[in-house]
Amino acid sequence: MNDYIRMEHITKRFPGVTASADVSIGFAKGEIHALLGENGAGKSTLMNMLYGLLKPDEGVITIDGAPVRISGPQDAIAHGIGMVHQHFMLIPKFTVMENVILGAKLEREPLLDTRSARQKILDLSQRTGLKVDPDARIHDLSVGDQQRVEIIKVLYKGVNVLIMDEPTAVLTPQETDELFAVLRNWIKDGNTVIFITHKMREVLEFCDRVSVLRDGHFIETAQVSDIDEERLARMMVGRDVELQLQKPPAKAGATVLEVDGLTVRADGGIPAVDNVSFTVRAGETVGIAGVDGNGQLELIEAIMGLTPAASGDIRFKGSSIAHSTPKEILEQGVSNIPFSRQTEGLVLNFSVRDNFILKERWHKPYAKHGFLQNKVIDSTVRKMIQDYSIKANGPETRAGNMSGGNQQKIVASREIERPHDLLIACHPTHGLDIGAIEFIHKRILQERADGKAVLLVSTEMDELLALSDRILVLFKGQIMGEAPATAKAVQQIGLMMLGKSAADAPA
Ligand SMILES: Nc1ncnc2c1ncn2[C@@H]1O[C@H](COP(=O)(O)OP(=O)(O)OP(=O)(O)O)[C@@H](O)[C@H]1O
Ligand SMILES: [Mg+2]
Repeated sequence: MNDYIRMEHITKRFPGVTASADVSIGFAKGEIHALLGENGAGKSTLMNMLYGLLKPDEGVITIDGAPVRISGPQDAIAHGIGMVHQHFMLIPKFTVMENVILGAKLEREPLLDTRSARQKILDLSQRTGLKVDPDARIHDLSVGDQQRVEIIKVLYKGVNVLIMDEPTAVLTPQETDELFAVLRNWIKDGNTVIFITHKMREVLEFCDRVSVLRDGHFIETAQVSDIDEERLARMMVGRDVELQLQKPPAKAGATVLEVDGLTVRADGGIPAVDNVSFTVRAGETVGIAGVDGNGQLELIEAIMGLTPAASGDIRFKGSSIAHSTPKEILEQGVSNIPFSRQTEGLVLNFSVRDNFILKERWHKPYAKHGFLQNKVIDSTVRKMIQDYSIKANGPETRAGNMSGGNQQKIVASREIERPHDLLIACHPTHGLDIGAIEFIHKRILQERADGKAVLLVSTEMDELLALSDRILVLFKGQIMGEAPATAKAVQQIGLMMLGKSAADAPA
């Protein structure tokens, strides 16, 4: 394949890390090119250089054989290169159209010609199959809708190379399939997609070529048709990965969490959680399946004391916590890996160290008689960095400078390692590479073996099956039903996720 874009001998150093080490890589017209590698391997950094957000210390970029200078996103866009980022960058209060035209060149500048802008969005939507409503406000949209807006926003600028940094991390399998249908159609006209993902299925089913980075180094580029799942896993992490974990039978003990007739109202008064009841016992993992936006967030926020219950009760180890403050709930022994590491889990401007002791800093062993015990804190944080293979320069690294997956590892490790009886894990492996997923999954299975109660909220069927004992399906705020965590139940769970009852399933 003839490469249209080439990055030659690219090196990028940050204090203490070489994020790209003499990388030479190429991308062709008419292909979806997957970019793979462990958390912190340098994928985002490399693509941020192609998009002009970072400047390489060494190396050149060529387009069609000619060297180009890309000193900022404007240059990248002028060369037809656009990017959708790992973390969404939309303004929630603005409409779709306002977000799309923000920063784009308008045809009749300085006139703000919204009529033609709207028409152009509708045309794009029509042509690509990306359904969007120009007048909807971002904060009313599902994650999948927001993703489409991000893409339209980039295509609106008229690019022929689209870089996507883990766009599917938060999508359902159906949304992912739809996205790839759009992309496969789009590359037919000679466009290029560079696609960062940790999901092997996506590479094997939808991509043409795959390149692998490891520790900042380029490893290889392969034709997807030449490789299989095991080879791909090995290429990514440089060792064999246990793709299937052992889950011994549960030894469920006393009831730890009891949700009883819980109703939570959203702002408009419509119940986001509608008369939900379930229990989680010690030594048991209960999975909550469902398409995002069916009440998962509100349910967890209510349990964590962040949103008031309209009616019903929540009991933890026998006592009601329905009117407790979030701090009281944490201190009674509830850990929570939240949905969003960036907005709820971490303080991005704080160091790894300060993020790790965020909730615990005035407790033993981190504080004694009101004094922080820096030695204890440092050794604990170093151990955590080691145990969870967190790629950080050290405890003082600013969390916001870490790669997405490594940010996720800080949140997960902190919540798993602090004292607790109940772990609520929401999308615990969001953005993790397959080696790290294996590790976190083993830790969550260990939690259960240690007699902790685990409530797992996930959209990944594989994850729900690997970790749960039973799975509850949430649809429009209600529990549609319960199923065992077995491969046989997958179809039934899928139907319930769409709001169909188990009785609708073909026998
Ligand atoms: N602004 C920065 N300052 C300091 N170090 C950085 C900065 N950006 C990235 N790094 C470091 O560079 C390395 C590569 O990070 P990068 O974000 O490119 O990884 P990635 O492959 O995208 O990982 P992930 O799969 O977790 O998203 C990491 O060690 C990271 O901590
Ligand atoms: Mg990244």
